[in-house]
Amino acid sequence: MNFHTRKWIKPEDLNPNGTLFGGTLLRWIDEEAVIYAIVQLGNPHVVTKYISEINFVSSARQGDIIELGIIATHFGNTSITLTCEVRNKITRKTILSIDKLVFVNLNEDGIPTPHGKTEITYAYMSIDKTNKD
Ligand SMILES: CC(C)(COP(=O)(O)OP(=O)(O)OC[C@H]1O[C@@H](n2cnc3c(N)ncnc32)[C@H](O)[C@@H]1OP(=O)(O)O)[C@@H](O)C(=O)NCCC(=O)NCCS
Repeated sequence: MNFHTRKWIKPEDLNPNGTLFGGTLLRWIDEEAVIYAIVQLGNPHVVTKYISEINFVSSARQGDIIELGIIATHFGNTSITLTCEVRNKITRKTILSIDKLVFVNLNEDGIPTPHGKTEITYAYMSIDKTNKD
């Protein structure tokens, strides 16, 4: 799993307890994951179908730098399944994990349609040809 996106936790990202608001983190993850799915499937018409249990392992605080990691674990007929981990960039302590995020590939009429992919294809090839996530 590669951690491409980093976030710097700011005052507007906090809950009243002074730690990172879970809803904000989930919005970041959903966007990161759908971009990953769009890139892998080569189709901008992709929607979130299912998100499994979300484990908020530890909190993040103002000033922390966190990073979001996503990787595809299964290519279905019309779907792609991803797994996600968020961690503190400096300490590497896990902040959140989600076992499964399922996205569905749609046609222009919004109907699930086969994507024809069976493995990770977009992998920042120009940087490292062995890096497949
Ligand atoms: C996405 C949507 C078009 C799928 O419709 P559907 O009738 O469930 O479609 P299908 O039954 O053909 O399933 C499509 C794929 O999703 C998978 N799927 C369906 N329900 C699932 C579930 N509960 N968990 C995991 N995967 C599921 C199916 O296995 C299938 O994948 P496959 O083709 O790789 O085997 C429809 O559910 C929808 O529009 N949902 C709202 C999406 C949305 O607005 N997301 C943003 C929410 S904020």
